[in-house]
Amino acid sequence: MQVQEERRLGEEADAFLRQYYAESGLTDGALAARLRQVREEIDRSGTYRHTEEELAYGAKVAWRNSNKCVGRLFWSSLNVRDARELMQEDDIFEALFHHIRLATNEGRIRPTITVFAPASTEAPRVRIWNHQLIRYAGYETDAGIVGDPKSVVFTRICMELGWRGEGTPYDVLPIVIQLGDRPPCWRAVPPELVLEVPIRHPELPGLAELGVKWYAVPMISDMSLEIGGVIYAAAPFNGWYMETEIGARNLADTDRYNLLPRIAGLMGLSTESNVTLWKDKALVELNIAVLHSFKTDGVSIVDHHTAAEQFLRFEQQERDAGRPVTGNWAWLIPPVSPAATQIFHRSYDNTIVKPAYDYQRCPYHT
Ligand code: ARG
Repeated sequence: MQVQEERRLGEEADAFLRQYYAESGLTDGALAARLRQVREEIDRSGTYRHTEEELAYGAKVAWRNSNKCVGRLFWSSLNVRDARELMQEDDIFEALFHHIRLATNEGRIRPTITVFAPASTEAPRVRIWNHQLIRYAGYETDAGIVGDPKSVVFTRICMELGWRGEGTPYDVLPIVIQLGDRPPCWRAVPPELVLEVPIRHPELPGLAELGVKWYAVPMISDMSLEIGGVIYAAAPFNGWYMETEIGARNLADTDRYNLLPRIAGLMGLSTESNVTLWKDKALVELNIAVLHSFKTDGVSIVDHHTAAEQFLRFEQQERDAGRPVTGNWAWLIPPVSPAATQIFHRSYDNTIVKPAYDYQRCPYHT
């Protein structure tokens, strides 16, 4: 078992280092020396440690390889923070709060990843229990769900750990982390770190009165990052939003904030019949409102037409570099007017290429 595992790690390390040295224009001599060193380290300790440069390159290429991501044009500008030496809960929370501050950057969002230690003999595995570092709670009440229905289970877990929210539809959940098999540990996110955008519409004043808002930065914190066979279970990362994620999904899905009937009401549309396309009209206005609000507040966001154009440039850039592009069509097309983008009319090879971000087992009982 152990021997097999070390063989797998050795092969993955080999492939990764060859790719890194080839793409970075480093010499064959340097590659040979590094390969020898890593093989010895694996023989001796059962694992190996990436250099800071290898880690940064690996995290960026994992983004480049993310089949579901339409925002990959910017892969090489990822800001990679090395937090592998942190072993204490307090220090890890500090690094997570710092990630939020750096990534938010007062609205000029910086794509950022913070990589914590992988599981190894000296270090316990770090896991972040949250799906995103900032996300709204969801409470089951007699009057129905208050907040984000997607968060109901995790919110209950946070409350079992002793957290209490105010009970509004937009309570920011605490961050929960766990080191090895130690009990999980939680902290509230300092409110001054949480940038939020009140959603209003340039021509529909009634929309602002709904009191709808969304947070500025989506920071995914439950996915693993695999580089050269090493699996980083805690490596939260962020880009900026595409407006449809908020306006066509988070705020619109019937099993999320389900706002379309209320928007249609504000617009004076009857929701009686499908043929008036009231859902479509409400969706478009809600997406306009999200773009307008983020833009007005100086918070980075991209519309789906621009994002699709950027993705085509990414494809061209990759072809020019002699690298095949993989992608997941169903995720790449936007949920609003997909056929108005070129992505819709193309096809993509959904092969998984490493380094890669991946889903991992939920760390708590659901
Ligand atoms: N779709 C998720 C959300 O609405 C965020 C996923 C990552 N998105 C991004 N633009 N990097 O919260």
